[in-house]
Amino acid sequence: MKKILIAIMISSLVLTGISLYADEATKVDAKALFEKKCSQCHSADRPKSKKKTAAEWESTVARMQKNGCPVTDEEAKIIVDYLARTYGK
Ligand code: HEC
Repeated sequence: MKKILIAIMISSLVLTGISLYADEATKVDAKALFEKKCSQCHSADRPKSKKKTAAEWESTVARMQKNGCPVTDEEAKIIVDYLARTYGK
């Protein structure tokens, strides 16, 4: 019985470790994606100097797509999510 409990504890620790790692990886990817896509016309400091709600970032990024920013809708979502978390208000 004890062995099973220990096995459960170990596997949950491993799973937590993996999900933390995955979270860290998406964060890094989102930042890289944002800096690559959003520094082509103006510097990335332009959005970095702002604080907006998620809804405001969403409309800003949609406007950037209209301005000609080459991101897919999927990438736009990742960038909006990153901006709202990092430069939210
Ligand atoms: C194709 C060129 C282009 C790209 C790529 C681009 N922008 Fe812009 N951006 C503009 C232009 C033009 C303006 C000024 C006119 C305007 O505000 O729409 C601007 C202005 C801004 C502003 C200041 C105005 C405001 O609403 O606060 C922010 C913030 C901004 N961009 C964020 C971004 C983000 C985030 C991305 C990446 C998803 C991005 N931009 C990519 C062209 C671009």
